[in-house]
Amino acid sequence: MEYSTRNQNNFWQDLPQPFFVLAPMEAVTDVVFRHVIRRAGAPDVFFTEFANATGWVHAGEKAIRGRLLKTKDDHPIVVQIWGGEAGDMEAFAKYCAELKYDGIDINMGCPAKSAVKSGGSALIRKPEVAIEAIAAAKTSGLPVSVKTRLGYTYVEEWRDWLTTLLQQDIAALTIHLRTKKEMSKVVAHYELIPEIKALRDEISPSTRLIINGDIRDRAHGLKLVQQYDIDGIMIGRGVFANPFCFQEGHKPSKQELISLLTYHLELFDQYQAELGRPFETLKRFFKVYIRDFDGASDLRFALMNSTSTAEVRKLLETEHLRLD
Ligand SMILES: Cc1cc2nc3c(=O)[nH]c(=O)nc-3n(C[C@H](O)[C@H](O)[C@H](O)COP(=O)(O)O)c2cc1C
Repeated sequence: MEYSTRNQNNFWQDLPQPFFVLAPMEAVTDVVFRHVIRRAGAPDVFFTEFANATGWVHAGEKAIRGRLLKTKDDHPIVVQIWGGEAGDMEAFAKYCAELKYDGIDINMGCPAKSAVKSGGSALIRKPEVAIEAIAAAKTSGLPVSVKTRLGYTYVEEWRDWLTTLLQQDIAALTIHLRTKKEMSKVVAHYELIPEIKALRDEISPSTRLIINGDIRDRAHGLKLVQQYDIDGIMIGRGVFANPFCFQEGHKPSKQELISLLTYHLELFDQYQAELGRPFETLKRFFKVYIRDFDGASDLRFALMNSTSTAEVRKLLETEHLRLD
């Protein structure tokens, strides 16, 4: 099937302008946390954490464990895949289409050593592999997008690299405004947005352009939109500082945060078996909810020493009684 961004199933074209996206984050944006964020204030698009095509081809479901788990109300949702072998990307993308994802995103920005061996940001240095991967994913019939960085080593790489990507008729392009080498250590290069936007307008005006990097919340995103007239804003770590960050100007109360944590616990219990994630993985989230109030660090300390969701609930209940 010939694919184009004008594909009638291309949900990217039906989004509001501007639109907000929850960034893919490994071991964070799974079915549980996406529901938590939906309750706090939903973005317009959700991404899964990334899943490796070659791992799936060789080891099947067990290689991806719960990464692809989603529910009917989890929508619109883009599955993020990574890899560098076109046959594997094609097979995995077709499987994702069977799972009824709304779109497929290819990760071409991950700096982790394990990803760079065969995909992630390594594709910035292997444009021919990137082109093949995009073509392979398109055979699924789903709209294909790419999330990448400005370059591998030098910021100046952005023009050639983004030109290559925009020439592939992709539905959306997310740019984390740093190079692979810069990791997250320098301030995102917002100053390049006007030139990147001009390049998109020239090569592929229908490709939605999404900006990512250090954007704290909706108000910050809207400010950037006003300044640069971008289509979409992607927020990652902003949700750790405020899970309500997709709602404009919402500073949650202690009660709201604790009630959101209680919801998180409920969902964790519900999906734990399918997700295959141990209780310990919950602990990274405690600081998201338990902060900025008297006694928060003592409570967090106690939570970090807990061993089950039942124990966490008990600690929260005691905190609640103390409030009364
Ligand atoms: C814990 C964590 C996991 C991440 N996992 C992924 C991932 O699976 N795929 C991806 O494209 N980027 C991943 N990223 C990068 C984010 O999507 C995003 O590009 C980066 O954090 C910069 O945006 P931010 O400043 O809004 O957080 C991850 C980032 C973090 C902090």
